[in-house]
Amino acid sequence: MTHARVALVTGAARGQGWAIVERLRADGFAVAACDIDEAELAAALQSRAGRVDDAVIGLPLDVTSPPQWQAAVAATVARFGALTALINNAGILHRAAIAEETPGGFESAWRVNCLGPFLGIQAALAQLRAAEGAAIVNTCSTGAIRPFPQHAAYGSSKWALRGLTQTVAAELAPTGIRVNAVFPGPIATPMLDDTTQQRLAAVAATGRLGRPGEVADAVSFLVSDAASFITGAELVVDGGQCLQIR
Ligand SMILES: NC(=O)c1ccc[n+]([C@@H]2O[C@H](COP(=O)([O-])OP(=O)(O)OC[C@H]3O[C@@H](n4cnc5c(N)ncnc54)[C@H](O)[C@@H]3O)[C@@H](O)[C@H]2O)c1
Repeated sequence: MTHARVALVTGAARGQGWAIVERLRADGFAVAACDIDEAELAAALQSRAGRVDDAVIGLPLDVTSPPQWQAAVAATVARFGALTALINNAGILHRAAIAEETPGGFESAWRVNCLGPFLGIQAALAQLRAAEGAAIVNTCSTGAIRPFPQHAAYGSSKWALRGLTQTVAAELAPTGIRVNAVFPGPIATPMLDDTTQQRLAAVAATGRLGRPGEVADAVSFLVSDAASFITGAELVVDGGQCLQIR
């Protein structure tokens, strides 16, 4: 069946990715929920099994794999007839002191957090070009606005993703494909262990962490017609974290 609005979301099995799946579906998108962790993705999909809905599918996708990207885009288009929005949400957090960081640790953060979105944009480009009102949203981090110590790999990969977003936004503007980024602050997801969540909540400007749905709300806006003249934007969703000078 052909749908007018079709989104592919990476890192969709949990956390912000799953919240984005639920939000975009509620907005009327058909959604391909993609993740490297097939078991967790299946469990997430199972959680909505009570609802009659054939417009959400789960697909295996390691965002660092070009052939898997080709397969995921092809499966999405085969099922829904189009691909109109790409949400590059998948990411891995990797912390190490600069003296302790390894080439492998550094490279793996870059591969998932920056190479992955690049590969996704390439794989989806032909479909997005063919779509009306196509949009890409990349998930950066406040770590790409402020430097967090002991985050050389993660932070630099997100700074690179910020630059990729701007570059691709400029290049694709004449095609009508809008390219924007969200910059989450501390969000309560499994990416942050309990100790980290408590530490960050204790110093948060608003006294709490963000909810995954609050990032999904920003993504929902950026892919919607309400953002039809917005490209290259950097939407910070951090409860004021960047306002705090330390
Ligand atoms: N949680 C935060 O505080 C926070 C803050 C700023 C930015 N972010 C960013 O938000 C995004 C979502 O993070 P989250 O908090 O929901 O994290 P999470 O760890 O809960 O979820 C990340 C998901 O990405 C998937 N994933 C990991 N590697 C992958 C790969 N190679 N291919 C496909 N999927 C892969 C995981 O399986 C997981 O389902 C990430 O890009 C993260 O860097 C998170």
